[in-house]
Amino acid sequence: MLTLVDRKIEDYAIAKSEPTNDLLKDVVAKTQAGTDLPQMLCGPIEGRFLKMMVQTVGARRVLEIGTFTGYSALSLAEGLPADGELYTCELDPKHISMAKGFFARSEHGSKIKLLEGKALDSIKQLKAPFDLVFIDADKTNYPNYYEAVMPLLRSGGVILVDNVLWSGKVLDPKTEDDHAIVKLNERIASDERVDRVLLPIRDGIFFVRKR
Ligand SMILES: C[S@@+](CC[C@H](N)C(=O)[O-])C[C@H]1O[C@@H](n2cnc3c(N)ncnc32)[C@H](O)[C@@H]1O
Repeated sequence: MLTLVDRKIEDYAIAKSEPTNDLLKDVVAKTQAGTDLPQMLCGPIEGRFLKMMVQTVGARRVLEIGTFTGYSALSLAEGLPADGELYTCELDPKHISMAKGFFARSEHGSKIKLLEGKALDSIKQLKAPFDLVFIDADKTNYPNYYEAVMPLLRSGGVILVDNVLWSGKVLDPKTEDDHAIVKLNERIASDERVDRVLLPIRDGIFFVRKR
């Protein structure tokens, strides 16, 4: 992934942000050692941002699409109150197994419900209302995820969509993934149901608030 923010600036931002914890550092270490695409981890800046968004929204029910090894799920769960719930969707058995291991070690793990299988199928089983949704799975389905979660989101609730700058490829889309992200960005940009701002944090986060 092309780094849109200068590495030294990113390190400075990490140093000045709330520190992460030993478990999240272990998630990073074991994901780097044991998976093929460790760059899929959202990382410390975005992780702290997700936790803070949950707290700021006062979220009690959160939905994540794309668990991977659990870094963002643990960050979201950290921001929830003790009786809060995070539903997180994952397809890959290896990722599911690793994430479950980390959730079992977390004091926030009891808030997390891992929905195994295709996210679009799992979403159909869920009941409204959700306060916050984080979309971070297969890019071809990004427009479908956005439409599927909108009815589940309460008014004033927030959708955060990751990788919407796609290492800059949104400016010159070529592949199916590139075009799916561009399609979603255009949909959000003209969607009268929401307030929105595209934040150039890391690989781009679309911050969407349902009216
Ligand atoms: C970018 S990673 C998620 C990273 C994670 N949010 C984090 O920050 O640590 C995307 C994940 O979505 C999963 N995935 C891909 N297609 C999926 C689908 N149709 N349903 C559920 N999960 C899917 C992949 O296996 C992968 O683990």
